[in-house]
Amino acid sequence: ACTNNSDAEIQPARKGQITIGFSQIGESSRWRAANTRSIQDAARIQNVRLIFSVAGLSQQKQISDIQSFILQKVDVIAFSPVVEAGWDDVLRAAKAAKIPVILTDRAIRTEDPSLFTSSLGSDFISEGISAAVWTKNEFRKAPGPVNVVELSGTPGSAPAIQRRAGFLEGIDGDTKFKIISSRTANFSRADGKRVMAELLRSHDDIDVVFAQNDDMGLGAVTAIEEAGKRPGKDIKIATIDAIHDGLVALSNGKINFIAECNPLVGPQLMELIQDVFLGIPVPKRVDTRETVFFRENVDQYINDRKY
Ligand code: AHR
Repeated sequence: ACTNNSDAEIQPARKGQITIGFSQIGESSRWRAANTRSIQDAARIQNVRLIFSVAGLSQQKQISDIQSFILQKVDVIAFSPVVEAGWDDVLRAAKAAKIPVILTDRAIRTEDPSLFTSSLGSDFISEGISAAVWTKNEFRKAPGPVNVVELSGTPGSAPAIQRRAGFLEGIDGDTKFKIISSRTANFSRADGKRVMAELLRSHDDIDVVFAQNDDMGLGAVTAIEEAGKRPGKDIKIATIDAIHDGLVALSNGKINFIAECNPLVGPQLMELIQDVFLGIPVPKRVDTRETVFFRENVDQYINDRKY
């Protein structure tokens, strides 16, 4: 029941079948691929007709995909917004067409919460807090200062903004911890490596990397090794996501802590969509279930992690 929006032929809906238009951000990471697969599999299982488009990290493309869903008169629009701000106009058009909108994974910033029906995703603030709490505990006996560098995600995106806010909240004004640099590496492994290599050239006193996802943390691992230091020992690393490669690095002691960000939102999204379609009231906010991983508890999870 999945249709790619760029395909010339679009399957007609069977009688009684719900049609949803979904606009995906378009990263090529394993996290994002797992997110996409989860949504497509859940649609197939629930017999939901899915018109799926991928935006190549472009907000403009997401807006035009949503406009096209409105023209196609889908029953529900869902999307994972690449950045937080700038959605009001297109969401007003969806509202005028009486098409409910569900945000997944990432949230938006708007003065008018009536522009979306529900928002399903991770608690990015909690993830940032968890990374900070781990950092504070890890360095509880160190006299300080503890120098932290932050590798942050796509500028303007909800996870980049909220994970930073959560990290600062978790540090809770403890002046022993100094964020000596915060640089974007766009949630990408290659950028994580490049930016970390630059940071290592300009700072010889880094104690901790707070990488806002595993990919950037894994890029930092390589840069630290290439600079002749030991990731996880000379420089500690806390990350977010818990993809398979991240869990392996955690098990090997090259990453020290991972807060989970769960991409498998498909089943919860389909439940929300069915309820919205039937007119059953749904919560404005639905959090995905998540946990945290340390070296001590990671091995039991590695083999089951498929992404
Ligand atoms: O929005 C979720 C975040 O986006 C994930 O942490 C990350 O890997 C992706 O880029």
